[in-house]
Amino acid sequence: MKQFLSLKDVPNLSDLIEEAKEVKKNPFAWKSLGKNRSACLLFLNPSLRTRLSSQRAAANLGLEAVVLDVNAGSWKLEFEDGTVMNGDTAEHIKEAAAVIGAYFDVVAIRAFATLKDREEDYSEKVLSAFVKYCGVPVVNMESSTGHPLQAFADLITIEEYKITERPKVVLTWAPHPRALPQAVANSFVEWMSAAEVDLTVTHPEGYELAPEIMNGLKPEYDQNKAFEGADFIYAKNWSNYNDYGKVLNTDTDWMVSGAKMALTNSGKFMHCLPVRRNVVVGDEVLDSEQSLVIDEAANRIVSMQTVLKKILETL
Ligand code: CP
Repeated sequence: MKQFLSLKDVPNLSDLIEEAKEVKKNPFAWKSLGKNRSACLLFLNPSLRTRLSSQRAAANLGLEAVVLDVNAGSWKLEFEDGTVMNGDTAEHIKEAAAVIGAYFDVVAIRAFATLKDREEDYSEKVLSAFVKYCGVPVVNMESSTGHPLQAFADLITIEEYKITERPKVVLTWAPHPRALPQAVANSFVEWMSAAEVDLTVTHPEGYELAPEIMNGLKPEYDQNKAFEGADFIYAKNWSNYNDYGKVLNTDTDWMVSGAKMALTNSGKFMHCLPVRRNVVVGDEVLDSEQSLVIDEAANRIVSMQTVLKKILETL
């Protein structure tokens, strides 16, 4: 694998899942693969799971990982071409990315959507600039429009807990007081659409995801109906795609409650974390045996380790 920006970089999803199972079973089997290699983990936004799981994954492969908090521990970056840099940005991405690429064998980046300009966010300005200028393989640790390492970990978790060959998986929008990106929801839809599951997406009318993400899949606007017979409920808030970045709905009825989960086929509850208790999901669900949120977080080591392993094997 030459890079991991999205599902498009995965030649065969079933093979990748099988590889992840092997990695999980025997995490230290490839300890020499990363010898004398190093990865830079760049964070333009906060993180708990991605930051820690990526370091654990690298350590399992014998790969040195260095974390850099861009804009906090380094110079503020400029991404526009031809700009007169007489404002608060001190270093252009052209130099910064090339320098990082000269120091490391792999660069992993977290750069959230600004939620101000849809066209700019969906052009993946930051991620694309690193790909263009750093000259080494790039891993997406959540970009403006996608969080493939999370979707990969979610799919591993579903594989582990499914009790039918083709489970019913429901992505449900849930309320949130702040405007959040569509990245997690986008990748979840992309990966589940390619996996051996039956995917239903439910959200309030007007909260449709990008047409290229849904790829013809029609949303179910009745959340109760969507939950009926579900094996997995995946909750996530996202801000509006059409009225870009706005919070137009805070209807608390969309919170995942114990009563809602009772409509499912003894379904499991999933969320990428961090999650706002009793806003997105009730305590009674999160604290129940139905919740897989810690399993998903643990599988973030597996997804990153599998991706780094595939990249290191090409170097
Ligand atoms: N799910 C996830 O990416 O968590 P962090 O934002 O804490 O990394």
